[in-house]
Amino acid sequence: MKDTLLEVTGLSKSFSGLKAVNNISLTVERGEVLGFLGPNGAGKSTTMKMITGFLTPSEGNISVAGCNIKEMPLLAKRRIGYLPEGAPAYGEMTPMGFLHFIADIRDIPRTHKKARIDEVLEKIHLTQVAHQPIETLSKGYKRRVGIAQAIIHDPEILIMDEPTDGLDPNQKHEIRQLIKEMATEKAILISTHILEEVDSVCTRAIIIARGEVIFSGTPLELASKSSYHNAVTIMVDSGLEKEIQLMLEEITEIKDFEITPQKDFTRMTMKPKVGVTDLRQSIQAKLDSTVYGIHQLYVEEGRLDEVFRTMTRKHESGGIHRT
Ligand SMILES: Nc1ncnc2c1ncn2[C@@H]1O[C@H](COP(=O)(O)OP(=O)(O)OP(=O)(O)O)[C@@H](O)[C@H]1O
Ligand SMILES: [Mg+2]
Repeated sequence: MKDTLLEVTGLSKSFSGLKAVNNISLTVERGEVLGFLGPNGAGKSTTMKMITGFLTPSEGNISVAGCNIKEMPLLAKRRIGYLPEGAPAYGEMTPMGFLHFIADIRDIPRTHKKARIDEVLEKIHLTQVAHQPIETLSKGYKRRVGIAQAIIHDPEILIMDEPTDGLDPNQKHEIRQLIKEMATEKAILISTHILEEVDSVCTRAIIIARGEVIFSGTPLELASKSSYHNAVTIMVDSGLEKEIQLMLEEITEIKDFEITPQKDFTRMTMKPKVGVTDLRQSIQAKLDSTVYGIHQLYVEEGRLDEVFRTMTRKHESGGIHRT
């Protein structure tokens, strides 16, 4: 059964004539991680600030676990955890002190405040630095402090603005694991510029450009818009690619060839014509009838970076929206 924890309808925000967010609607169900994508200045942070009650919308409605944020702002804010862009915190405080401070603001009862803080420090792997001033922590650890303060009151809805931005690959992986773990019982909205994050953590994605939604769907639906969707890539011995291309050109379902020399082999990617879903079979059959040794053969789902560029570029021309 659907359990819609966040519902945004017709949300807009203007800053002295600039329409930063223009009529955005979205929902996030319990168990979902919605990826919020868009180029710099698209309006992601502005949308998140409105959802978390830090900015007042010019138009539109936000409903958090059934509470309208305009009518019941306090109740709505209690259900939300928010990691702002760059995860600001009080530098001179220690993670322990900062979490005590946030726990008080969040009205966490004294009786289980200490236990809850210890639990979160443990979960976010902050225990070792719990007593070190935040300003002396590395970027990754500062981000963890930001995440810890966002979840201290165990909110059902988590809004995270670029949670893995600037982290090393190991820390990115850890934070993504954490997001996935938490997703089972929460509704999570994350903004990101990292397209592989959409594949690895998001159940759905929304792309915005110049304040407007230009795509909404699953990562697979997004990938299927790529010209590489269902493309077949093979690795062949360098020097043989011309002969192999000549032979494969007989397959009419192939739209074009991309030949990329690599260190040891040459990569050949064959994109399918529109509507062709199984190029692999015809290519495999052709290759089976020859003596050429093929080192690898795989079918692509699609390239998210290509789709992102194509979609958002279309929206770049035309200047800034004025109200
Ligand atoms: N307080 C403000 N006053 C005036 N303009 C603002 C304000 N906040 C945001 N904007 C403008 O609104 C637009 C959207 O900004 P926003 O920060 O939401 O983008 P973003 O999608 O989060 O970008 P990024 O990927 O760079 O974080 C930008 O043009 C920005 O300059
Ligand atoms: Mg932003």
